[in-house]
Amino acid sequence: MTGEPVLEVEDLRVRLRTPRGPADVVNGLTYRVGQGETVAVVGESGSGKSVSVLALLGLLPARVATVTGRALLQGEDLLTMSPSRLRQVRGPGAGMVFQDPMTSLNPVLTVGRQIVEGLRAHSDMSKAVARRRAAELLGEVGLPDPEGALDRYPHELSGGMRQRVVIAIALSNSPALLIADEATTALDVTVQAQIIDLIATLQADHGTGVIWITHDLGVVAGIADRVLVMYGGRCVEDGTVDDVLEHPAHPYTRGLLGSLPDLAAPVGPDGEVPDLTTVPGLPPPPTDLPPGCVFWPRCPVRADPRCETEQPPLAVVGPGSGGLEHRAATWCTEGEAPSAGSPAAGASSRAGGPAAGATSGADGPEGGGR
Ligand SMILES: Nc1ncnc2c1ncn2[C@@H]1O[C@H](COP(=O)(O)OP(=O)(O)OP(=O)(O)O)[C@@H](O)[C@H]1O
Ligand code: SF4
Ligand SMILES: [Mg+2]
Repeated sequence: MTGEPVLEVEDLRVRLRTPRGPADVVNGLTYRVGQGETVAVVGESGSGKSVSVLALLGLLPARVATVTGRALLQGEDLLTMSPSRLRQVRGPGAGMVFQDPMTSLNPVLTVGRQIVEGLRAHSDMSKAVARRRAAELLGEVGLPDPEGALDRYPHELSGGMRQRVVIAIALSNSPALLIADEATTALDVTVQAQIIDLIATLQADHGTGVIWITHDLGVVAGIADRVLVMYGGRCVEDGTVDDVLEHPAHPYTRGLLGSLPDLAAPVGPDGEVPDLTTVPGLPPPPTDLPPGCVFWPRCPVRADPRCETEQPPLAVVGPGSGGLEHRAATWCTEGEAPSAGSPAAGASSRAGGPAAGATSGADGPEGGGR
């Protein structure tokens, strides 16, 4: 499901000042989120997923972060907006659920007051109507005793309950864009499914575009229209969920998919299940990115001499589906459009390790730097 763009991000870059020197944490992200569309952002820890969305909403302190590029929310550039306009836009324009719920809840105000204030800041609802709506929202996100919860302080709730309160606040103004950063990771699967349904309803009713940041590829397969794979602050692959999960073209994506448990694998005689395959090695620190392909130090198929000196641009790697291009930043698939029988497609079978079945000719993967 895609429509008019809700968000268009162009060449987003974030440099952080750190004690170890400048850290290039986001390095040229370009993507769009259509009306009613869900874009999943995946990538291992430290790849810049959270920083990239905090930058969009002006939530990185200017003394530590330099943000450049463009981010048009319904045609208006978030990166050049005045702070007062940004405050107006957060809520009905863009709602965000953070990884840590305590960062967005005020510990000295009751849950009810926080939801009511959020509702009344962007509408002419009376206090009584807003309070009724707040209780309704808490019920919708599965909080037991929503009326009672309105009068409680955040510290009186469990972590999972607090997370549901934050989700209720983010949904309360039916935002045009919802950014969910590991929003349901801490919740049990039943509540997670309930929240996902709630968001799907919001999308159907209001055309909300969703950026869903997660480590859970099962959720990605279930809810996303398209997937953006981040590594070292870059998008290394994007496309429709079917293209990326069924025909991954970048060796890193193949590694990520290889690290899913193979549910069909035989269980050992004592009931033990096989280890998860992981991508060997560690991502590079953002203060010391490699000069060539950012994945070079860990890439099991690095054969092209350009790998060491040039960052491959995102190039179209297959026919694409759903009217969207399938792109990847690699030349190891140059000249071969991945298809169901190709090595890239084979790697999505979950059975192999990183780049299983991919043509080699290079050294094995290395951990760390060069
Ligand atoms: N305030 C900060 N000061 C310095 N470096 C930071 C700061 N916040 C994040 N970073 C660095 O920026 C990089 C990207 O961090 P980010 O939190 O965006 O990763 P992530 O992809 O969201 O990871 P995770 O999956 O663990 O949430 C990391 O190397 C992190 O150490
Ligand atoms: S083959 Fe080269 S360009 Fe492709 S991911 Fe590996 S190191 Fe990067
Ligand atoms: Mg994060």
